[in-house]
Amino acid sequence: MSTSFLNQLSQIENLEDGLRFLSENFKDKIVFSTSFGIEDQVISHAVFHQKLKNVETFTLDTGRLFPETYAVWDKTLLQYNQPIRVYYPDADDLETYVNQNGINGFYNSVSLRKECCHIRKVVPLKKALKGAKIWITGLRAEQSDNRNDFEIIQWDEQNQLYKYNPLLYWTTDEVLHYLKQKGVPYNTLHDQNFISIGCAPCTRAVRQGEDFRAGRWWWEDQTKKECGLHQ
Ligand code: ADX
Ligand code: SF4
Repeated sequence: MSTSFLNQLSQIENLEDGLRFLSENFKDKIVFSTSFGIEDQVISHAVFHQKLKNVETFTLDTGRLFPETYAVWDKTLLQYNQPIRVYYPDADDLETYVNQNGINGFYNSVSLRKECCHIRKVVPLKKALKGAKIWITGLRAEQSDNRNDFEIIQWDEQNQLYKYNPLLYWTTDEVLHYLKQKGVPYNTLHDQNFISIGCAPCTRAVRQGEDFRAGRWWWEDQTKKECGLHQ
């Protein structure tokens, strides 16, 4: 993939234009990961509304998602009638983990929590990224100090592909405005002070003054709160 193509892509400010430029000019496999959070719903709308066929949209169903997340997944399928491929954890690995550590073993230590995320998210992610050369995500700089250092297009050493983060510099207000303006379905937990939404047992609503990711793995040291999808 040429640097000039990537430079051109990173200069396109309009979301729809950027995604269309990518889909029309890039012949290798493009994937987009959605967790059905507000950012991903913005990108889903832009992809589905324009019917960008060669962008493969996928989600990782950990098996521990909120009922509200399954509801917005279903609504999104109904509204756009476009495919969302699902990847599940390996059943044998999950059985072994739960048999050894209990159904909520992730509360007992950071390493058990990371192991659960590894089985339920990271391994399925590897399957989803297989053969892809570009991975579109809904990451935003505002979400954490770590993400503040990300770039719109960045090389992902771990997965050996480029990540395209078209919403990197969007504010929360811009995301919410887009959803409202376009009538995009969203996870109703966002109406109950949930901001970043992952698995149900590992996500809570945030209190006033708390940061974006305070509701994720809230019982852990603040510096360790990534699940391994994004380094
Ligand atoms: S996480 O690393 O803490 O879990 P976060 O919830 O902030 O990630 O989401 C950031 C981006 O990671 C999303 O925009 C989406 O592209 C991807 N992502 C996170 N969770 C999933 C999931 N379960 N399925 C697919 N993509 C996901
Ligand atoms: Fe397991 Fe919690 Fe990670 Fe989900 S967020 S995979 S339940 S540890």
